[in-house]
Amino acid sequence: MNVFDTLQQSKKLPDVYRQMTRVELEERIRQHKERLGKKLLMLGHHYQRDEVFQFADQTGDSLQLAQMAAKEKEAQFIVFCGVHFMAETADLLTSEEQTVLLPDLRAGCSMADMADIHQTERAWERLQLMFGDTILPLTYVNSTAAIKAFCGRNGGATVTSSNAKKMLEWAFTQKERLLFLPDQHLGRNTAYELGIPLEAMAVWNPETERLETDQPLENIRVILWKGHCSVHEKFTVKHIEHLRKNEPDMSIIVHPECTHDVVIHADDAGSTHYIIKTIESADSGTKWAVGTEMNLVNRLANEHPDKEIVSLNPTMCPCLTMNRIDIEHLCWSLDQLAEGIFQHPIKVEDKDRGQALLALQRMLDRA
Ligand code: 13P
Ligand code: SF4
Repeated sequence: MNVFDTLQQSKKLPDVYRQMTRVELEERIRQHKERLGKKLLMLGHHYQRDEVFQFADQTGDSLQLAQMAAKEKEAQFIVFCGVHFMAETADLLTSEEQTVLLPDLRAGCSMADMADIHQTERAWERLQLMFGDTILPLTYVNSTAAIKAFCGRNGGATVTSSNAKKMLEWAFTQKERLLFLPDQHLGRNTAYELGIPLEAMAVWNPETERLETDQPLENIRVILWKGHCSVHEKFTVKHIEHLRKNEPDMSIIVHPECTHDVVIHADDAGSTHYIIKTIESADSGTKWAVGTEMNLVNRLANEHPDKEIVSLNPTMCPCLTMNRIDIEHLCWSLDQLAEGIFQHPIKVEDKDRGQALLALQRMLDRA
């Protein structure tokens, strides 16, 4: 769904919800949850606001949430507290009888919007002319269902930040080269971890429709789509240098959506789940600077008062689209559900369903 469709289909929150107190909103959500019991499953990504996260029946990173959706057979309604591509993934992995709802349709992901299917098809045609049938497409789950379907029909698969390494290893058993969409940083960081030199990676620029490299084509093994996460690009090597100088005993852990420079200068990198587990198991008294979304960093700091936990970028903002899901929208979505109205249901188009599911299944079979 493009931005125009989203704005057209997205309904505006009635004023009454802004006038309710936090206690009233919480009480009403609790009542809906009690009444619906096992018919309702609320899934929450780690980047959600605490006011919403507290109600999630299950929480996780994007891989865990996809696995949870795939396993869920009982719930009729899945209210997804996360972003659009995650809700689409849940829709693909659940049955026809189950309905996935996103409390605010404007909760998209700017990175997912950076790879449009028409640009991708054109790029594929050009790349086939350059490299022949030697490329396997892989897409980060942070992508539209149409891009997942594109990967599915071309033999490829989806990846998440917690299984990217495993999926790239698999991809190289299938073809000589890979096209990684839409996050150039996760693609570059993972390929580098597998020992592929930076010179063997080229960037496909969807605006100019050109491959950015100064290497002979036969040297290229990884083609990175020129997309990025605007939240994670805000962590820089300067932030790391500042901390190394002023807080030499602080460990730095970042998400692999950060730029390559940041990842190689940090002490460790991994998915949101990996970051949480690493900090949870660290000794009391240790100090951590974390390069990921603010809601998660703040939650980690609150949950571990025995450790010092700060954001790697002191002026960091939360992911604005994740933050669209607030307690008011959640309450509104459940109120509507109680009236039998499906507000903002997420349904992947039939033309993409089968092939997108194939790409997801290839990942889940190996995750
Ligand atoms: P995870 O796969 O680590 O949950 O990350 C998803 C995401 O959108 C990070 O920006
Ligand atoms: Fe998308 Fe970045 Fe927000 Fe993750 S943090 S949902 S990649 S915009």
